[in-house]
Amino acid sequence: MPPRQPPHGAANAPVRKALIPAAGRGTRFLPLTKSVPKELAPLVTTPALEYVVAEAAGHGVTDVLLVVSQGKAAVGEYFQRNLELEAVLEAKGDLAGLAAIRRAPSLATIHEVEQLTPRGLGDAVAHGEDFAAGEPIAVLLPDDLIDDRDHLLSAMIDVFAEHGGIVLGLIDVAREEISKYGCVSLVEGSDASGDVVAIADLVEKPPADTAPSTLAIIGRYILPPRIFEVLRATQPGSGGEVQLTDAMRTLAHEGVPVHGVVFRGRRYDTGDRLEYVKAVVQLAQRHPGIGEEFTAWLREYVSGS
Ligand code: G1P
Repeated sequence: MPPRQPPHGAANAPVRKALIPAAGRGTRFLPLTKSVPKELAPLVTTPALEYVVAEAAGHGVTDVLLVVSQGKAAVGEYFQRNLELEAVLEAKGDLAGLAAIRRAPSLATIHEVEQLTPRGLGDAVAHGEDFAAGEPIAVLLPDDLIDDRDHLLSAMIDVFAEHGGIVLGLIDVAREEISKYGCVSLVEGSDASGDVVAIADLVEKPPADTAPSTLAIIGRYILPPRIFEVLRATQPGSGGEVQLTDAMRTLAHEGVPVHGVVFRGRRYDTGDRLEYVKAVVQLAQRHPGIGEEFTAWLREYVSGS
């Protein structure tokens, strides 16, 4: 049998580029975010953003565009080499320190663009048009951390290779939670309990009682180049912001295939204060330097002894 041709030809080019929006003010993390970008808040010792760039790089992405805002130069600087510090660590023979500071700059080629006014996720993604240069792009929201033992992005890349169009990361949430997310409705006959679903429509942050499903969009997207043209014409929606969900909805209505990979693995929402602390605890338990001791202490602490 001849190999099956992807139905959307050139649209199914490999995903080599990723865009990471990092322009938000991070007001939930004040006072820290008065001068430290939220994306650099440490999960034990490594910023959340490094985990997300590493996730993209681990799945074949070679180039990452960081969409930043004024006053967040530290985000880009974090991904540059610091030769002075490298020399100091080298002189001390601190090989672990050296490896740690060399990792972020070695993950991918980092590009930056400034979003002058915060006009929403759709507007942030629109800043990637020149970067994408006609190729599909992955979008990774840095507040969503996927455990490195689980592989959402590679499953999404496989679905994109087969179907092209748009591929989304989804989670099934409790109905009262759905109004915090973009929500999808499925093509008739698509099995909501399956791992890959076919999506008919999308709506941003619907009220719980009218939401078409409990499948929520999480911060992982693969988008075709045409998204940029649609974003340019997308008017502000939910919250007065230009919504990526609305632009994807336009494409869905045009007949562009939209699929979702339903993620049932470990995910940490580092944009929420309580969830952030939980993420730190979980990552501390697995940390090669302190994990064992920390876990032993945590057990005692929780049992009250
Ligand atoms: C954004 C998207 C939303 C998505 C969410 C995932 O919302 O607009 O569709 O479900 O990210 O985290 P935000 O959390 O920025 O309000």
